[in-house]
Amino acid sequence: MTRKRVAILISGRGSNMAALIEAAKAADYPADIALVVSNVPDAAGITHAREAGMTTAVLDHKPFGKDRAAFESALQRILNEHRIELICLAGFMRLFTAEFVQRWSGRMLNIHPSLLPLFPGLDPHGQALRAGAKTSGATVHFVIPETDAGPIIAQESVPVLAHDTPDTLAARVLEAEHRLYPAALRRVAEGEGRYNQP
Ligand code: GRF
Repeated sequence: MTRKRVAILISGRGSNMAALIEAAKAADYPADIALVVSNVPDAAGITHAREAGMTTAVLDHKPFGKDRAAFESALQRILNEHRIELICLAGFMRLFTAEFVQRWSGRMLNIHPSLLPLFPGLDPHGQALRAGAKTSGATVHFVIPETDAGPIIAQESVPVLAHDTPDTLAARVLEAEHRLYPAALRRVAEGEGRYNQP
């Protein structure tokens, strides 16, 4: 089995990254976390990744200002250097140009803490609570130019409880995320979750 070379892109805490790193330790896991990239130099997740012995890179977006294409060229160079085949976005808080997304079409995954297409964008847990949803959850999907949209690879639902706040709901959903992302990446790396554009 050749393991797919995966880059995880983060901006923050990195708990989904940690779950993916953990899963990839299994001998039969079809993906190798070959690189962790953070656009935030002091993100907690990048420290964790270093401590876990991962290959890491920091690509601060700030010097690029509004020039997304220049940021993406620098990112693409790093991905090329490490011969990356799949990208997992895990709390990565930058939007990509349509060109970059197109280049990685069917090879870039994202996780969002709601049952998409419900509650995309910011504050999904607040959105779920305001809507009175009785169930929420998490979604892993292929990335398309539209934010928090794209073909769904896997979902796990989570109950919304009567006295939930955005924080308590987020914590319950996060546990599901940590199961879901490794399972979804497994399917894609094994070639099952391949996305053929309609
Ligand atoms: C997760 O809830 C993920 O679904 C969302 O951002 C959060 C990142 O958390 N996209 P972490 O950095 O993986 O802990």
